[in-house]
Formats: sequence, C-alpha cells, structure tokens
Amino acid sequence: GLPKFVKIVEVGPRDGLQNEKNTVPTSIKVELIRRLVASGLPVVEATSFVSPKWVPQLADAKDVMANVCNLEGVRLPVLTPNLKGFEAAIAAGAKEVAVFASASESFSKSNINCSIEESLSRYRVVALAAKELSIPVRGYVSCVVGCPVEGAIPPSKVAYVAKELYDMGCFEISLADTTGVATPGTVVPMLDAVMDVVPSEKLAVHFHDTYGQSLPNILISLQMGISTVDSSIAGLGGCPYAKGASGNVATEDVVYMLNGLGVKTNVDLSKLMLAGDFINNHLGRPSGSKTAIALSRV
Ligand code: HMG
Ligand code: MG
Repeated sequence: GLPKFVKIVEVGPRDGLQNEKNTVPTSIKVELIRRLVASGLPVVEATSFVSPKWVPQLADAKDVMANVCNLEGVRLPVLTPNLKGFEAAIAAGAKEVAVFASASESFSKSNINCSIEESLSRYRVVALAAKELSIPVRGYVSCVVGCPVEGAIPPSKVAYVAKELYDMGCFEISLADTTGVATPGTVVPMLDAVMDVVPSEKLAVHFHDTYGQSLPNILISLQMGISTVDSSIAGLGGCPYAKGASGNVATEDVVYMLNGLGVKTNVDLSKLMLAGDFINNHLGRPSGSKTAIALSRV
C-alpha cells in the first residue's frame, strides 16, 4: 500500500542553486524560499554552511538565513559539513541542520575532502553539539546506488553508513542517488538492505533525474514504506562534485503524481508553480518540470 501523507523536503534553494553557474543574488534566494513556503511545503532546505571556496554559490548563507529564519510554519534545515559550519549555522539562526556522508569513498573525497570514516567522526561531533542545543540533525547518504568514479555501490555499504548516521542521532536519513543512475531494479535491493538496519519511517529518498527514473523510483520507494521524499522546484540542481548529474526530481512532478495517487502533501500545486516561474524567469530558462510546462499550457 501507499502512505496517506508524504512529507516533501524541498531542496531547490540548496541542492539546486549550489550548482548554478552564475551565482543567484541573495534577494532572489530569499524570495524563492518565501514563495516555496507559501505553497505549503513543510520543509525547505535553505542553504549550506560550507566552505565558500568549495561552493561559492552559497557563500551568502548567513544573509539568506537572516532573512528567512523567522518564517513561521516551516522547517528550514541547512547543510553543515563540520563543527565550524554547525556553529556558523546556529549563529545565523538555523534551527535544524543536515550532515552529508557518502557510501562511496571516492565521492566522499571529492565532495568533502575526507574518507567516509573521517566524515562520520566529524558528524558525531556535530551531532553531539546539536543534541546539547536540541537541534534536529538530518543525515544524507550520497551515491546510494552508483558513484561517478567507482560505479555500482553495494547495498551493504549504504546500510552501514545509514546505520552509523542513525546511531549518532540523526532523526532522518535521506538516501541520495547523487548521479541519478538508479532504477527501481537497483532501488529495491538498496532499500531492502537499509530497512534491515534503520526503520522505514526514519528514511527519505532523494533522486536526481539524469536518466528520467525519479518518478518510478519514488513510486516503488513509497510502496516499500517510505513516506518522505526530497525534490527540487523546477528540477533545479545537480552537484558541483558529481559531473554530469542533472537536477533533482522536480517538486511539481512529485506533487502531480501524489495528487493523482490521492496521497496528501499539503502543497498547493498552483502556488508551487508560481515559485517555479519566479526562479525560471530569473535564470532565463524553461522549467525542468514536465508538469509545470504542461500546466502552463492549459
Ligand atoms: P577542506 O579544504 O578539506 O577544509 O574542506 P579545511 O578544514 O582544510 O579548511 C579549509 C578552509 O575552509 C579553511 O579556511 C577553513 O576555515 C574553511 P582558510 O583557512 O583556507 O581561509 N572552512 C569553512 N568555511 C566555511 N564553512 C565551513 C568551513 N569548514 C572549513 N563549514 C570542507 C572540507 C568539508 C569544508 C569542504 O570540502 C566543503 O565545504 N565541502 C562541501 C561541498 C558541498 O557542499 N557539496 C555539495 C553538497 S553535498 C551534495 O550535493 C549531496 C546531496 O545533495 C545528496 C546527493 O544528491 O547525493 C546532499
Ligand atoms: Mg542532491
């Protein structure tokens, strides 16, 4: 069966805008977040407190947070790769953070410049500091099916990293197909392995649409008991350290599918489309959402 309600975690302002060639002005980011919140999304990942040398696109994290951290009725997590990022995030008004590990040794090195074990040690420090302040920590596992360097990643490796994040206190673990190579054929054994060690209600899925497989991957994940889905407005995104990866699955497409399935999200699709129009107009590109394109014609 399917869940009655799916919590959508909007990652466009972070996963989307971290990848834009031309850095988006702070005021546009803030207005995008406001519009996303107005559409009813319960969680909007706002930005990252990472090294500005590594991700210059999000160097304005502090200013973004200053403008959105008091928005009501929404959670606005931010990415923190270490204690330095965590402390900066809290100082800027963040009330929730996310740490991001990988199931691929090579991707860990290229994305955060350390081994998987080293990253887990850093995240234990972040988790401890967060616990003292009662700040919820989300954990990501990237490359859950494939890695741009190593190719196929064994489900046991994903389960190991997910369990470590869960054991250090992450309230939710998002399983990310960073490069978008997954199909339902590889998602099922991966989720089976992870669900053996982390309860399904603590898991989320995060798909990139490189091969157009996100919606079938989401549907099969829901059928397996997942009820939290990451997506990005207008399908923005990619990862600066995963060459060739396309954007995340578009939030509009996820909401359209869930509406069709009778699964509630609390998201107003027409308001969501206005948020999409706003950022597409700024970027000067057509939407990456098939639903948004189709609905704008009717
Ligand atoms: P490093 O160079 O190894 O770090 O980077 P370091 O400790 O040697 O520090 C180097 C400099 O960075 C120092 O400054 C530090 O102070 C500074 P300097 O003395 O040279 O002036 N620094 C920081 N500055 C601001 N905020 C911080 C911070 N930490 C150190 N938090 C580091 C290591 C982890 C910092 C770096 O590799 C990094 O920032 N990586 C982040 C990359 C990133 O954001 N990638 C994209 C997000 S992950 C993703 O897309 C996957 C996901 O979407 C799921 C999926 O789809 O798979 C989540
Ligand atoms: Mg991503």
